[in-house]
Amino acid sequence: MSKAEIRFDGQVYEMPVFEGTENEKAIEIKTLRSVSGLVTLDPGYKNTGATTSAITFLDGEKGILRYRGYPIEQLAEKSTFLEVAYLLIYGDLPSKQKYEEFTQNIREHTLVHEDFKTILDGFPSAAHPMGVLSSMVTALTAFYPEALDPNRSWESVDMGIIRMMAKLPTFAAWAHKNAKGHPVIYPDNRLDYCSNFLKMMFALPSEDYEADPVVSAALEKLLILHADHEQNCSTSTVRIVGSSQASLASSISAGISALWGPLHGGANQAVIEMLEAIKNDGGDTKKYLNKAKDKDDTFRLMGFGHRVYKNFDPRAKIIKKAADSVLLKLGVNDPILEIAKGLEEAALEDPYFVEKKLYPNVDFYSGIIYRALGIPTNMFTVMFALGRLPGWIAQWKEMRENNEPIGRPRQIYTGANERDYVDVNAR
Ligand code: SDX
Repeated sequence: MSKAEIRFDGQVYEMPVFEGTENEKAIEIKTLRSVSGLVTLDPGYKNTGATTSAITFLDGEKGILRYRGYPIEQLAEKSTFLEVAYLLIYGDLPSKQKYEEFTQNIREHTLVHEDFKTILDGFPSAAHPMGVLSSMVTALTAFYPEALDPNRSWESVDMGIIRMMAKLPTFAAWAHKNAKGHPVIYPDNRLDYCSNFLKMMFALPSEDYEADPVVSAALEKLLILHADHEQNCSTSTVRIVGSSQASLASSISAGISALWGPLHGGANQAVIEMLEAIKNDGGDTKKYLNKAKDKDDTFRLMGFGHRVYKNFDPRAKIIKKAADSVLLKLGVNDPILEIAKGLEEAALEDPYFVEKKLYPNVDFYSGIIYRALGIPTNMFTVMFALGRLPGWIAQWKEMRENNEPIGRPRQIYTGANERDYVDVNAR
């Protein structure tokens, strides 16, 4: 193992350099504070590895993304969302028998306790579906208290994983029905994962509903593309909440809340709102590019830029292609797709975006497809959560299997030095 030297205050401290299977290297600083009294400082963890992981590899410079070694392009083209979920969670592509067991188990657990409708009824229609989703997930702990035991068997954890994978689509669709003020639609175990979700989303009690295979296939691809993305904000949240031995449901609920932010998963909703604003403002993309470059303007080009990708986000490439074909197949002509393409073209020629290596990310085109599928804007981040669920589960499981310590970062204090209390009458 190679070493790094840290020179400080006349001392030299040797630290081992850890190398991963894709030749990434990290200075292991586990002993840094004990030998030198130093800690590192890295707001946003831009240069800090929180863990080692065998789940997802991405190379931001080369635009590479692989789940358990399989390129995202191949999985998006050839696999199914539940097969990718199994791959992420259990480490390998399942045998035919294992796959059938896994999918059948999920089908048989999509129904939720009737009392969840009482919880749902407590939310006004104006409630954002992401808030409903994270609340319903936390409420699972009330119905399956055995899942609170951090020392439960791995068989019991697997049951919890099946329940989470099976019930999240039901919660998501019910959150949508609550926002519409419509009665909920119960899961139909005769259907595959995506068709069942679409039926719960769009069916009405008075009519038969059959999901359009084009819509179902597009949804399958989008869910695969969102399934995991190594140590992003929401996944790091799931890991650190889980590191306190909090339950899977509590950790996933926290991940949903972290994903909600407009800088993270909330960006797909913010992109559509931005494109709508540009359209309503006469389609003046130049004006919005200038706003995004203006230091005094808080406006950002939503769906652009990425902490890791300093090249094209491979997912954005696939989604952009899919957007064209899905809208064509569905006969949808959405003017904001052209605005998005015009914005992308202008940004990729603009020195500001080129110098800062700001490219379209996964959120830039995904909302256009969701819209074409009939999914309302306030449900876009819920769709992201549906897709990211197997990644969150896989990362939580890996952290627990590796017995990782509770996450507790250090800080550097910059507040007042010691001072004595002064009575209020003397202040
Ligand atoms: C996701 O991490 C993941 O893997 C996340 C994700 C996943 O799958 O889990 O890929 C999903 O969250 C995608 C990102 C979705 N968010 C957005 O589209 C929101 C818009 N983009 C950003 O706000 C920003 O690019 C981030 C949050 C994505 C990344 O921010 P960083 O890495 O902290 O970079 P930064 O904010 O420090 O920006 C670096 C520079 C800054 O300028 P300077 O201070 O150096 O002068 O680039 C500028 C920023 O002002 N910049 C932008 C910009 N993004 C960055 N300027 C205009 N528009 C933008 N979108």
